[in-house]
Amino acid sequence: MKTLDDLLGEGVSGRRVLVRADLNVPFDKANPGVISDDGRARAVLPTLIALRDAGARVIVMSHLGRPKGAPDPKYTLRPVATRLAELLGSSVVFAEDTVGPEARQTVESLQDGQVLLLENLRFNKGETSKDDAERGAFADELAAFADFYVDDAFGAVHRKHASVYDVAARLPHYAGGLVLKEVEVLKRVSESPEQPYVVVLGGSKVSDKLAVIQALLPKVDKLLVGGGMCFTFLKAQGHEVGKSLLEAEMISVCQELLAKAEGRIVLPVDVVAATEFSADADHAVVDISDIPGDRLGLDIGPKSTALFAEAIAGAKTVFWNGPMGVFELAPFATGTRGVAEAITKIDGFSVVGGGDSAAAVRTLGLDENAFGHISTGGGASLEYLEGKTLPGVAALEK
Ligand code: 3PG
Ligand code: MG
Repeated sequence: MKTLDDLLGEGVSGRRVLVRADLNVPFDKANPGVISDDGRARAVLPTLIALRDAGARVIVMSHLGRPKGAPDPKYTLRPVATRLAELLGSSVVFAEDTVGPEARQTVESLQDGQVLLLENLRFNKGETSKDDAERGAFADELAAFADFYVDDAFGAVHRKHASVYDVAARLPHYAGGLVLKEVEVLKRVSESPEQPYVVVLGGSKVSDKLAVIQALLPKVDKLLVGGGMCFTFLKAQGHEVGKSLLEAEMISVCQELLAKAEGRIVLPVDVVAATEFSADADHAVVDISDIPGDRLGLDIGPKSTALFAEAIAGAKTVFWNGPMGVFELAPFATGTRGVAEAITKIDGFSVVGGGDSAAAVRTLGLDENAFGHISTGGGASLEYLEGKTLPGVAALEK
């Protein structure tokens, strides 16, 4: 696999370089247009700066959210271009379309050392199409913009999308430093984790995490389960979970996992149960055997947090994906904060697996440097740990 360093060695001054970044950043729900966590933008800066400073004409492309293949102002990358310019300390030209007339013209007039951000890739049907020809046609248009392709969008390498997979086949391609670092860390965790190895999983759905649970179960000493998904496990153990999130069709699967795990899956013993999904909802800590029928669990309780922290304390390797509760709402952030703090204290190597858990670390004001590695890819890191081939990485290896 060729790397950005190889490309810089070949010389890029005056050349056009198409960079796939994952600038799919979260926005503040209360303040539209305000980025709540710019971690993903910061993670790709070294690549953009290196290319800019080497005199390349840098064309950055990314998706944002999940628009349906047509322009949708709700998902414009414009605010991200503004933030990127602040972070780079130099201007970023923004094209109002992805491969249309404005994009073409802007690419044409780009100067050496200038950075351009194209509008959301997913405003185009070809980006995510399942049809190879449709994706290929879009990839042709993107590839026509540049001499070289650099993929540094680790968060999107699990997607077989035009900008991730097909463009690589059309241009000399290179892996950016972020992709290299992420793959190296995940390789270390999945191939040779120092024992004891503790995995902490949260988030809402068991069905999303089933494959990774199955892949990790034989390798881990303890698998701690919190977040919305714990209620399906608790139900599988015979507890009533009230109005909590429940995937009824996964109950029997959870029973099988619990049997197979022989005590290595650790579940909460208490939860914070609220009258509704709201920061002002009436709420109380209850034991898992006493969840009221008219309430829903929105966080793990203090006894659970202590139990999880104790399991984490002895670990040499911790992988964490998914918040323990609805951390965006202050009354339900305690479990996530407690578990995150426990992870920062281990005498070993910790990895925060992307997406919401990485955002939680930063929005709760925790010290990012206290973790071994904070991934920019939620789905991507899980699929790596499942042992799946990541299309974006495979394309770079060809
Ligand atoms: C993510 O947020 O996980 C990545 O940016 C990929 O986005 P997607 O799940 O919408 O493909
Ligand atoms: Mg996602």
